[in-house]
Amino acid sequence: MTEGTTIKPLVAGNWKMNGTTAMVREPRLLAGMMRDVKTKCDILVCPPATLIRRVKGVLKGSRIRVGGQDCHAAASGAHTGDISAEMLKDSGATHVIVGHSERRTNHKETDATVAAKAKAAHRAGIIAIICIGETLDERKGDKTLSVLTSQIKGSIPEGAMASNTVVAYEPVWAIGTGLTPTTAEVAEAHTHIRTELNKAMGEEGGKTRILYGGSVKPSNATELMSAANVNGALVGGASLKAADFIGIIKAYM
Ligand code: 13P
Repeated sequence: MTEGTTIKPLVAGNWKMNGTTAMVREPRLLAGMMRDVKTKCDILVCPPATLIRRVKGVLKGSRIRVGGQDCHAAASGAHTGDISAEMLKDSGATHVIVGHSERRTNHKETDATVAAKAKAAHRAGIIAIICIGETLDERKGDKTLSVLTSQIKGSIPEGAMASNTVVAYEPVWAIGTGLTPTTAEVAEAHTHIRTELNKAMGEEGGKTRILYGGSVKPSNATELMSAANVNGALVGGASLKAADFIGIIKAYM
């Protein structure tokens, strides 16, 4: 098998800190649109924790799944304001995003913190979407591949499997900027990530999904998703409107 080619893609939406109850209309609309669309990918939306249960409710009967955006490493305890992976699972989440660059930057999360959170997701029985990616300075300094190597080594917990782990490559400079790497740059990064996953996870590495994230839109999704070792997308802004998000999902028709 050529590595990565038989992996079912995943298109995931990260709402970030957006959405109150009225926003639930978007996943409802999306579920309606999906009834007429035959796609070859899995679909996930990650609303704020306050909406997980509501979004889950409107997606009942659809194949769209719901995830959380972050979790604490512990299962419970004196951690005011934090949410555990077990709590996310209890709310209906099947996945949790960990190590997003906004968490790494705004909350000073290290690779070790990210690995502990991913381990917590595994403990709770949900899938960890582990985000990695270089800054603009690192890319300019020709450090992209070495940054990815050290983030993989540090952020993927022991015992990670393809069934409970997804890696998302999100170049920090491409997030919310409208800028994207070229298809060749995406392929280079993803192929490097695949090689490193093979080293870190053995056979499981060849089966693990590697998503691309950073300014994915309906207009560039098909091209970005065609790059080698890209097994789906992690979408921010364009996941907030069902009409945009479906345009990205359709890259996998
Ligand atoms: P944008 O799609 O808005 O660039 O965000 C990407 C992202 O950070 C998804 O996690």
